[in-house]
Amino acid sequence: MTTVTSRSLVQYLISTENHHSSFENEVRKIELPMLAEFGSNATIQCPDFADFGTTLTADGADLTRAEFPLVSASSRHQILKAVPSSTAPTGQRIAVLFSGGPASGGHNVVVGIRRVLGENNVLLGVKAGPKGLLEGDLFEIPADISNILNTGGFDFLGSDRTKIKSDAQLAQVLATVQRFQLNGIIVVGGDDSNTNAAFLAEFLAPHRCAVIGVPKTIDGDLQVSDLVPISFGFDTATKIYSEIVGNILQDTPSSRKYWHFIKLMGRSASHVALEVALQTHPAVTLISEEIAEKKWSLGDVVNYIADVVIQRASAGINHGVVLIPEGVIEFIPEIKTLIRALNESVATQSGSNAVDALSPELKALFQSFPDQIQSKLLLDRDSHGNLQVSQIPSEELFIELTRRRVAALNPEVKFSPLNHFFGYEGRCGAPTRFDAIYTYNLGLVAGALAIRGRSGYMASVTDIFNGGQGIAVPLTGLITTERRSGSTQMVIKKALVTTDSPAFRFFDSRRGEWAKSDLFSSPGPRQLWGELGNQVPITVALNQGAESLGFKIG
Ligand code: FBP
Repeated sequence: MTTVTSRSLVQYLISTENHHSSFENEVRKIELPMLAEFGSNATIQCPDFADFGTTLTADGADLTRAEFPLVSASSRHQILKAVPSSTAPTGQRIAVLFSGGPASGGHNVVVGIRRVLGENNVLLGVKAGPKGLLEGDLFEIPADISNILNTGGFDFLGSDRTKIKSDAQLAQVLATVQRFQLNGIIVVGGDDSNTNAAFLAEFLAPHRCAVIGVPKTIDGDLQVSDLVPISFGFDTATKIYSEIVGNILQDTPSSRKYWHFIKLMGRSASHVALEVALQTHPAVTLISEEIAEKKWSLGDVVNYIADVVIQRASAGINHGVVLIPEGVIEFIPEIKTLIRALNESVATQSGSNAVDALSPELKALFQSFPDQIQSKLLLDRDSHGNLQVSQIPSEELFIELTRRRVAALNPEVKFSPLNHFFGYEGRCGAPTRFDAIYTYNLGLVAGALAIRGRSGYMASVTDIFNGGQGIAVPLTGLITTERRSGSTQMVIKKALVTTDSPAFRFFDSRRGEWAKSDLFSSPGPRQLWGELGNQVPITVALNQGAESLGFKIG
């Protein structure tokens, strides 16, 4: 028997193509509140900037002043706040680019910039990230781009990870600035991209082109006390991972047979793992920074997991979830030493030569790893000198080592592990309400800074529980030195989890209970409508000393 599908259903299904699912059509309509200093969505005003009353200096401020004399002198490392203004600059030509991995809310940043620029200024989009800036691949963004509002991904522009550092590259940037008569460039990126923005700001200062950064990364490692409460994209990514982890946790006492080892993206920092743990309460969560602080060896970490497996088995629970931060192996002291040595040798030699250059102890450690781990440790570092930790299957390594340890300690224990890696699934979903509102306002602040010619700042929104305040954080106030790719470099330091933070302490006070019995929660899908959607990440609320998870911007 054949079924005749109704014509109207077929038409409807075709109408959903190209970003027009019912969901996407509805999210575009969500109204976004804005900071008071910008007026209202009906008549957006461009604020001016005044002293916020706080100066920012990272370690090595003298070195920073020497490396960034022009930007340091103009900002004096002082934070600025947006203040209402009745006048707005005109005739400014600003470019915006995405840099690094995607994070939800990027499109709203662009919409915010476009709207604050208004009719009397031009916004150009740089295609495919910093590479597009080098190649001069820019296009004019039309006045109305509400079709991308509240949509996930970076596809409106594209992105890449090119680091702009050589004189030849800087000359290419200058050619682009001159060809498109740019008065400003807004770099939407993580710690490395904002470092790049600081160098560009210094280089372009004599050419009267301002450079502004916007804090983006799902990793959550670009945060500065309450000044930059979190990077955008973290909330959406962790809520997506928490939904899936919650579903898996719900499966474990149903099927009663699996241990799920779940690696979570987040690069070096464990913010993502900590947030997902607080949302879902699994049996084991590794926190890389704690491992490094306590100097746990690989054997110690494996013993910790194996002990929980055996403890639960003795209570008749042969299932559970282990959360593993993506970068954990970089924090285990002996592996960290190995990776540091490899970073230096991989920078100058390839493959087996890089391994031969290691000390006998480090070479033996390297050779003790399974082949797939060895080959990933030798991969080229990214253009900022980072090991590509997302490619290292540490969840498989921990499964294998835990299996051996459990078998050695108690061969009777049933241990059936499965492995997962959640990363790319969380980076491009439609932004949560927090990310949607935060990014729209970050875009407004960044656009206002750019047309006001304020260079060398990161746009931010502080006071997110009480209405919000747009501020500008001097990039040079965040810069310090670090060893990368075999040399000392000036970088914005990654903000890692600290074991004395309120979020970690709360986790620490509960994890023993979560290990013993099933106390997990399934937070469900992120809510974009209604009160439940108005929540910041738990780690942010705890670390900011908030009374509740609810935020208020605008
Ligand atoms: P950014 O720091 O550029 O925001 O990237 C975040 C991230 O998603 C990391 O969590 C992950 O390690 C990395 O990107 C993966 O990189 P790629 O997209 O190149 O595979």
